[in-house]
Amino acid sequence: MLTSFAYSLVLMTTVLVSGAIGSVIISNDHPLIHFHGRWDKSPGTWWAGSGFKMHVDNLKSLSLILGEHTTTPVASIGVSPYPSLKPSSVVRINVEGWQNNRINVEKIILNDGARLLPYSPSRLGFQFIGDSLSAGQYLPQGVDQAWPFLVGEQFKAEHTVNAQPGATLTDIVSYGNQHGVSFQFFRTEDTGYFYTTDHNFTTAWDFRRDVPPPTHVIIHIGANDASQSVTQDSFIKTFLNFISRLRTLYPTQPIFLFTPWGWPSADGSVSQYYPGAHQQIVQDRIKLGDHNVFLVNTTGWVTFDDVFPDNQHPNVPGHEKIANLFGAWLETWGLKPEPEWPA
Ligand SMILES: *[C@@H]1O[C@H](CO)[C@@H](O)[C@H](O)[C@H]1NC(C)=O
Ligand SMILES: *[C@@H]1O[C@H](CO)[C@@H](O)[C@H](O)[C@H]1NC(C)=O
Repeated sequence: MLTSFAYSLVLMTTVLVSGAIGSVIISNDHPLIHFHGRWDKSPGTWWAGSGFKMHVDNLKSLSLILGEHTTTPVASIGVSPYPSLKPSSVVRINVEGWQNNRINVEKIILNDGARLLPYSPSRLGFQFIGDSLSAGQYLPQGVDQAWPFLVGEQFKAEHTVNAQPGATLTDIVSYGNQHGVSFQFFRTEDTGYFYTTDHNFTTAWDFRRDVPPPTHVIIHIGANDASQSVTQDSFIKTFLNFISRLRTLYPTQPIFLFTPWGWPSADGSVSQYYPGAHQQIVQDRIKLGDHNVFLVNTTGWVTFDDVFPDNQHPNVPGHEKIANLFGAWLETWGLKPEPEWPA
């Protein structure tokens, strides 16, 4: 559950000094803040789902002091404490949106007597890569209600979601994205950088900052390549090159490829694209000796009831359904959810 009632969140663009007397001020470079997702040097977030976790003893209140690189007027965030019987709790904060998703954290102010403890990450870490179908576009709470986030929760796994609505895998301009995911995944910024005036550039992501590195990689992409008339052969070639490049970062991690679930219509039909392409990619990887790439056949997972009728993207129950189906798929494959969060 993601709730915000327990904490007061103060979103400000100037530094709060008065009123902080007796409070514990945590600077944004405190070594016990567990950052996840993509952060630039300010430090500020890009990509839906980026955020941080803190394990805090005696937590009663928390305020964020945000700097000038924060999206104005509003950047929506999800906030949740882990349920805990201990006096300490883990508080999690992440940006929900695929756009308007920049929080530039200057300071975190905790109540008097609060103390940071080390955060122990889960043994499991899921890296999701995709487009609008994974980013939670059109959902009221964005990525926090999307299937990748929900699967991460089910398995008590750390999870990062690099998913860009409208983007192709192929590195071409598509629906307002200056680059495709095969380029942008390796960057700190999502493609929204192109529309910002204070940070109109993109920088290489240092993958050593993904601590711990992911244990499983899940890719669901292709809808926009199909809409942009990228041929099936070209799509397959781009995908194979992308996986080769991912293997330099993730040499032993299982990689899961979703087949398209298609675009369902009111008459019960489902419009498909790239038939057999994802299966071909898995087979080609196996031919190359990589037996650690798996096809997730999502055919039939999403019907017209599971989508918003006007844009055919999964609705809130649709995302829950997909998360449950993929969770069950993973368990059949051999992965068990962690019994408890470690911290
Ligand atoms: C960002 O830079 C590109 C050129 O690289 C330019 O086309 C674009 O308009 C700029 N965006 C903003 C918001 O200034
Ligand atoms: C995926 O599932 C559908 C429906 O069960 C089936 O018709 C199809 O053959 C499957 N595709 C692959 C590649 O296994």
